[in-house]
Amino acid sequence: MNILIRAHSGLRYVVLALLIAAIFVAYSKWKSGAQGDSKLYLFALIATHTQMLIGFILYFISPKVDFSLMKEKVFRFYTVEHIFMMLIAIVLITVGRVRSKKLVGADKHRTVLYFYLLALVIILMAIPWPFRNLGSAWF
Ligand code: HEM
Repeated sequence: MNILIRAHSGLRYVVLALLIAAIFVAYSKWKSGAQGDSKLYLFALIATHTQMLIGFILYFISPKVDFSLMKEKVFRFYTVEHIFMMLIAIVLITVGRVRSKKLVGADKHRTVLYFYLLALVIILMAIPWPFRNLGSAWF
């Protein structure tokens, strides 16, 4: 359990770094009208899916997931808010990636840019940052 939380916590920075990198690449390739794909789009997708798999395991074993304690901020956050927003973000990344694969040139990169950017905003809002007083730290 401890190892899983450490992995899930640290992997957030890998997810964020890959998403931001993919967004920058998508923007510059869109603007320059570049052809081809970028491996970063795939790596960002893999990182978020890995995070989701660990998240699902945690969801079943974590003491912070408890539907009978919805009045408590921390329990409500992990039981409903965190998983709900993260799943929306991951669906957006998956749809963005799948759609972009069928497109070429500027359309491909613009699609990645929009979907990944929206997902990034949602993920940033759904992370239990320390200043939100949800009992989680930076690492
Ligand atoms: C990109 C997606 C995600 C990111 C960046 C993310 C990030 C995080 C972070 C930073 C924590 C706090 C860890 C700590 O206290 O040190 C956390 C906790 C948790 N996450 Fe996620 N998460 C993601 C997706 C998910 C998903 C999809 C689920 C459920 C299916 C999930 C379930 C959980 C649970 C249950 C905890 C609480 C673990 C505990 O402390 O007992 N996460 N997540």
